[in-house]
Amino acid sequence: MMTRTLTPRRRGRTLGVVSLATLTALVLSAGIAATSAQAAGSTLQAAAAESGRYFGTAIAANKLSDTAYTTIANREFNMVTAENEMKLDATEPNQNQFNFTNGDRIVSWARSNGKQVRGHTLAWHSQQPGWMQNMSGSALRSAMLNHVTQVATHYRGQIHSWDVVNEAFADGSSGARRDSNLQRTGNDWIEAAFRAARAADPNAKLCYNDYNTDNWSHAKTQAVYNMVRDFKSRGVPIDCVGFQAHFNSGNPVPSNYHTTLGNFAALGVDVQITELDIAGSGTSQAEQYRGIVQACLAVSRCTGISVWGVRDSDSWRSGDTPLLFDGNGNKKLAYNYTLDALNAGGTGNPQPGDGCTVTVTRAEEWSDRFNVSLAVSGSSTWRVAIQLQGAQSLQNSWNATVSGTSGTLTATPNGNGNSFGITVYKNGSTTLPTATCSTT
Ligand code: XIL
Repeated sequence: MMTRTLTPRRRGRTLGVVSLATLTALVLSAGIAATSAQAAGSTLQAAAAESGRYFGTAIAANKLSDTAYTTIANREFNMVTAENEMKLDATEPNQNQFNFTNGDRIVSWARSNGKQVRGHTLAWHSQQPGWMQNMSGSALRSAMLNHVTQVATHYRGQIHSWDVVNEAFADGSSGARRDSNLQRTGNDWIEAAFRAARAADPNAKLCYNDYNTDNWSHAKTQAVYNMVRDFKSRGVPIDCVGFQAHFNSGNPVPSNYHTTLGNFAALGVDVQITELDIAGSGTSQAEQYRGIVQACLAVSRCTGISVWGVRDSDSWRSGDTPLLFDGNGNKKLAYNYTLDALNAGGTGNPQPGDGCTVTVTRAEEWSDRFNVSLAVSGSSTWRVAIQLQGAQSLQNSWNATVSGTSGTLTATPNGNGNSFGITVYKNGSTTLPTATCSTT
């Protein structure tokens, strides 16, 4: 089941709005209390769409002729950000002479493939054209506002969300604005940019986008939070906050990420993870990707995740191998963990009224097969239906009685408790099987 809604929705459990009497009647009449039972999404965009979210990537116009690149991008992602082509130096190389050629190529590719577009970015201290770098004061303020108006007007109606202002706060403990020619035009430059963007494209969501704003206890995070709170209280038009999420050992994924996302969302804005990449490899990298997905899924107003490129070789930090596909376009372990986390659709914790809940976890993997660990909670008398994916088949099982070898397997207790496992031959599919639990 795939449901697209304007705001993210959890799959399955809507028990909060079902009365106890109704629930009891349903359980009694069905004889079971089933948990969520949807098919797993086999691509990032399909898995994210199950909860009404998008999954996006940065796209570079000069790679649109690379079919290996566009095949992956088209299959996996439903949101596109121009990596450089809508920036100030690209769109206004000479003052008042606009060039939308490459930005338009990306929008056209996205739209012809049914994807939405994040606009990036209207006002930024970096990647300014030379003429703008040399300006200051009221002339720069006017030129900046004209740029915002012209670019947002050109793309009016075609942009899901605009990064109106990018990276306007300083790193470190000051909590101050970043010094820049734009900042020196006056502290109100950010809200002026947002007002100009709203006037030019009233239907685009308007975002403030930054990095190093992931850890809730960091001064920069607090400073951005205070600005957004101030904007909301004064009616400055802001709809969303983008978290770039460029992570590495010096800037690791914080353990309080869901707190940060949740606190921003509570101000009445959407939050989006806009430029995700995580330096590393193997299980460590994969677990960090999973943590990011889980943090987003835990916050209903976290409406989507975009990674900053398709393959490691496409990354602005290619030496960090920070993306979900290797240079040959193969899915990395980080991809599998990301897809699994999207398909798990939340915390997997049992909810009131569930007869039993089963969690499914990927374990050891070999070239031809992999292990799957399953853990039941909520009941000791259960039956678990395991949906193998594609042509997968069962090789082995332990700590439960498992019947069937392909398609849907059935597992019941064999006296070894509530945790059991299976080994699955891939036969072409590494997608994690899904499972549902019912009480017997
Ligand atoms: C990067 C691009 O990926 C590079 O190709 C370019 O040379 C520099 O900019 N934060 C942002 C993005 O908001 O625009 C940056 O993109 C990465 C950091």
